[in-house]
Amino acid sequence: MAAGRIIARMNTLERAEAAERAMMEELDRVVVKSVIYTSGERDPRQPLERPPDTGKRYMMGHDPRLPRMPAKPTVMDYFNLRFGPTQHLMQSARLAQKNGASEKIVLACLLHDIATTGFIRGDHGYWSAQLVEPYVDPEVSWAIRYHQALRFFPDESVGYSYPQSYIKLFGEDYVPEPYIQRDYQYARDHKWYMSSRLICVNDLYAFDQNVRVELEEFTDVIGRHFKQPEEGLGFDASPSAHMWRTMMWPTKYL
Ligand SMILES: [Fe+2]
Ligand SMILES: [Fe+2]
Repeated sequence: MAAGRIIARMNTLERAEAAERAMMEELDRVVVKSVIYTSGERDPRQPLERPPDTGKRYMMGHDPRLPRMPAKPTVMDYFNLRFGPTQHLMQSARLAQKNGASEKIVLACLLHDIATTGFIRGDHGYWSAQLVEPYVDPEVSWAIRYHQALRFFPDESVGYSYPQSYIKLFGEDYVPEPYIQRDYQYARDHKWYMSSRLICVNDLYAFDQNVRVELEEFTDVIGRHFKQPEEGLGFDASPSAHMWRTMMWPTKYL
């Protein structure tokens, strides 16, 4: 059958996979994706289809399809070279600043969704907190962790209501899982409750497409409140250094 006819008969997923295979073939390294990248799109229990053995080595470092990171990366390098669009984070941080929040809260807003934008979406508050925990004040990472649960529960005392967008996204009848409810109850009575709540208050659900915030606006806040490791973020021996390395080299075989 002519190649054109085969392509025409492929569905969208098959076409995407074929394009990807073609791109992989051009690489001088074999890339095998982590199970979590594809789980759901394919049955994770099934063995992976291995590319034919062409003598190529497997990816064990920098992926040439990505911009190269400096030898000693900073959190700003991750923003610029690895994260997806970060206007939501920067606009939230700017709003917190405008509302007179402390620098710690501004930093918390700037980092609150970094898992969504650079790592893993599900349970993003927990992942985001864990990523930054070794480098920020404990109150900052605590606030980030619990914003995920708090955002499902209104607090009229600070003018925070259940987000309209959630009704659209998750449906009228969506009920947060018991662990979210438990963590909300716990956070509500904690001394840092309001810090986490302030992330929700300044969290811009629908950010302004016409406003562009530059990361440089927060250079000083980051400099004062994010403890940049000397060896570079990912090469220090912190409990989350490996998670930063995974963002740096997301396709590393082992
Ligand atoms: Fe969030
Ligand atoms: Fe957010």
